[in-house]
Amino acid sequence: MDKLLITGGRQLKGTVQISGSKNSALPIIAAAILTDEPCIIRNVPNLDDIGAMIKLLQFIGVSAKRREDDALEIRAEQPLGVCPYELVRKMRASICLLGPLTARLKKCKISLPGGCVIGDRPVDIHLKGLKRLGAKITIEQGYIYAQAQELVGSEIFLGGRFGSTVLGTANLMMAASLAKGTTIIESAACEPEIVDLADFMTKMGARIKGAGSPIIEVEGVQHLRGTEHDVIPDRIEAGTFMVAAAITGGDVEIKGVKPHHLGAVWDKLEESGVDVYRNGSIRVRRNTPLKPVDVITMPYPGFPTDMQAQMSALMAVTPGISVITEKIFPNRFMHVSELARLGANVSLEGASAIVKGVEKLSGAPVMASDLRASAALVLAGLVADGETEVKRIYHVDRGYERIDEKLRSLGAKIERVPEENF
Ligand code: EPZ
Repeated sequence: MDKLLITGGRQLKGTVQISGSKNSALPIIAAAILTDEPCIIRNVPNLDDIGAMIKLLQFIGVSAKRREDDALEIRAEQPLGVCPYELVRKMRASICLLGPLTARLKKCKISLPGGCVIGDRPVDIHLKGLKRLGAKITIEQGYIYAQAQELVGSEIFLGGRFGSTVLGTANLMMAASLAKGTTIIESAACEPEIVDLADFMTKMGARIKGAGSPIIEVEGVQHLRGTEHDVIPDRIEAGTFMVAAAITGGDVEIKGVKPHHLGAVWDKLEESGVDVYRNGSIRVRRNTPLKPVDVITMPYPGFPTDMQAQMSALMAVTPGISVITEKIFPNRFMHVSELARLGANVSLEGASAIVKGVEKLSGAPVMASDLRASAALVLAGLVADGETEVKRIYHVDRGYERIDEKLRSLGAKIERVPEENF
């Protein structure tokens, strides 16, 4: 296992190129099994989660490989319909194979993903939607069994107590694309990753209207064909670098990002006294004191839950009191106890973190726990006095491509070292 050693105090300056979106690539890779023809998917980041999905596809007999030109080539001629716990538990997003496997094979068995450190990750809404399409769903010994003579278009409501479901919307859009007749998905997730998936599927011949809005209409077709696609940039990686510029008082241009994918982050950073210029790329500069802001995470286009921990790190060094409320994953505060080790003053009140800004953080060894909490610890280390050691950074590598190299190229003092085992 590696760790990151960070010496705080450097202002980040320069330009960084954002990688392709992990959360767009994962469902798109799954959608490639809707056809027996080859699909070429470009701008797929080299991340552990992507590697896990490729392994899972190979396990079910799908040809999935990264070509010399770094594009993914996927061909699902005769996929098997069994996704085992050993592979699914490593990457919860594997659940997005449920829709395409059910649509393609009419019968599949996939392990329940189980929970993760940000909370229990139920899939009840996914299953409710598949039942509406005519699938028979049973759960036995930790596995979902889905079976259907045929899938028939229907009206599906995907709203839950925390809003819609991103991967649930992806699963049902994929299942409906090969169903008989038309499906209306109400209370669909509006995230840009859903729009990107719909764009990919439309190139395959799917008939989808309304992706990006709460109402998506899918007219089922008999057959989908192979296609080529470039995955959108990772808006959460981009947002993380925006906060890195803000927290260090630097001046960073973030290239390759679609600015309108980050409206809520831009708005909150502006409110906290950061200059954000959006003209094709996003430039973030801060040379005045930060101001405290309140944040409530919401489904897109609201403030993304995947940026909550990073914003908490910024507010930890912002004079005043900020209230950060997590409405999507109410327990998503693994970063709080570790930020406290660096001297942050954060108290939890239910689904809210009350952040009292401190003058200075001081470096210390901290433990990464989940993907975005780990990013928050890296951000805090960039401004903490002295050296911060972030252990178990495989959590970071799941969702950030070469984060240490990219931060170093902006002037950060950060290096990756093997973690001594004792
Ligand atoms: C996607 O997860 C993202 N992952 C998550 O990013 C992101 O945090 C999340 O959407 C919310 O934006 C990928 O796209 C691979 P949800 P997903 O279903 O689809 C509840 C990261 O850091 N719910 O939209 O699994 C659920 O418990 C990851 O990159 C049900 O109750 O999330 C949560 O409270 C972390 N029943 C809320 O809905 C269901 O059937 C939103 O979950 C499904 C979800």
